[in-house]
Amino acid sequence: MNEDLYIISPDAADLFKEEATLRSRGPATPVDALGLRAWSLTDPDLIKKLFIDPRISRDAQRHCPYLETEIKGKWPLEAWATIQSMLNADGADHKRRRDPARSTFTAHNVAKIIPAVEVIVSEQLDAMAAAASAGEPVDINKHFSEPIPVYVIAHVIGMPPHLAPAFQRLVSGMFSTTVSGEEASAFAAEFREMLSGLVALKRSEPADDLATKLVIARDRDNALSEEELIDNLFSLVAGGFETTVNMFNYAIVALLHDSEQLTHVREGRATWEDVTEEALRFATFPHLPIRFAAEDIPIDDGTTIQKGDSIIPAMGAASRHPKWHGENANDFDVRRPNKDHLAFGYGPHLCLGAPLVRAEGRIAFPALFDRFPDLQLAVHKDELPFKSSFISWGYQSVPVYLGAREKTEVPVR
Ligand code: HEM
Repeated sequence: MNEDLYIISPDAADLFKEEATLRSRGPATPVDALGLRAWSLTDPDLIKKLFIDPRISRDAQRHCPYLETEIKGKWPLEAWATIQSMLNADGADHKRRRDPARSTFTAHNVAKIIPAVEVIVSEQLDAMAAAASAGEPVDINKHFSEPIPVYVIAHVIGMPPHLAPAFQRLVSGMFSTTVSGEEASAFAAEFREMLSGLVALKRSEPADDLATKLVIARDRDNALSEEELIDNLFSLVAGGFETTVNMFNYAIVALLHDSEQLTHVREGRATWEDVTEEALRFATFPHLPIRFAAEDIPIDDGTTIQKGDSIIPAMGAASRHPKWHGENANDFDVRRPNKDHLAFGYGPHLCLGAPLVRAEGRIAFPALFDRFPDLQLAVHKDELPFKSSFISWGYQSVPVYLGAREKTEVPVR
């Protein structure tokens, strides 16, 4: 790898600018991510090619010679690179770890989850209405975007709902790229302790849920080790939450900021599915998940990714690449004719929860906008704070007025 490293901003302070720079440096470019040298991939066609290439591995133990010295201790890279879930396995091992969870997310089984999602959405809308005092803004992130995915994943996994808020706090820690090492280890330890408690509960009170399926795969079928069982749950809870929150927030802000977009949907020129797909192009991981070259891999532009090199794909930069979406690729446009994106990755590790996310969008967006037809941002979109993370990119809070307000109360730029 040459030494002309682009330093990835730990807090994704100006993500679109950073992504444009990365794209301008070629389809694969060397970067420094929290001190780790890695290849950033921004070309969507190259990502699709490499994600099904057997020379690329997810197994850091086997294919990352500097795991101990360069990755351990770098939060959250260490957590993401070493977690013993389906995320970090290849071939038959990957299939073994993924199979016990797979059936939960088939179209048929996701359809069975839909009534529960509808109840969760409806309850959250009631709770949000109750939380709003006359004339005061409410935070849609706190009352809608965060609780819906967390209660949905709690339902799917079989987590007692009262534990959901604690898991929510721990997941947010997993995605932060600006916490200290001590805070990070504390998060990971507490998260695993809670998951062990969940596994113990399912052993004593099995139920028709995903956690029980994984426990059976461990205890009856011997298909998972105890660590793989816990870490699969870890990936499912973490994967199922934070990105979905970002998707909700991004779409809501975009639709409220540019009311023409919302009008397209209300007047039938675009669908809530279009809204969800468009939001996904923005709400995916900016830089993750990490992979390793198991052999030298020459790529078309003449560079060679060398054996042992780390690869951190830029899924957002690729999903908003001008070669797929033209010069307005960074604009939120529900009528975009080409819906392609890599928000869920590609190939064997394609996001397991994708059908669930799509169902959540299809249900929650229309429910919100039908219930509150006069919803309005309480501040200009440019004033909304973003999370400090290059893994999870999204709004931290989104104050809105649920009812009609005078237009002049929203600062205009
Ligand atoms: C907007 C929401 C979501 C986005 C953008 C997203 C994105 C992703 C991405 C980019 C990957 C990695 C793919 C790769 O490396 O090729 C992934 C994997 C995964 N996601 Fe999601 N995800 C979302 C929601 C969910 C939900 C709701 C669940 C579960 C309920 C989930 C569970 C998983 C799991 C288990 C994996 C690992 C799959 C494997 O390695 O075989 N995700 N997701």
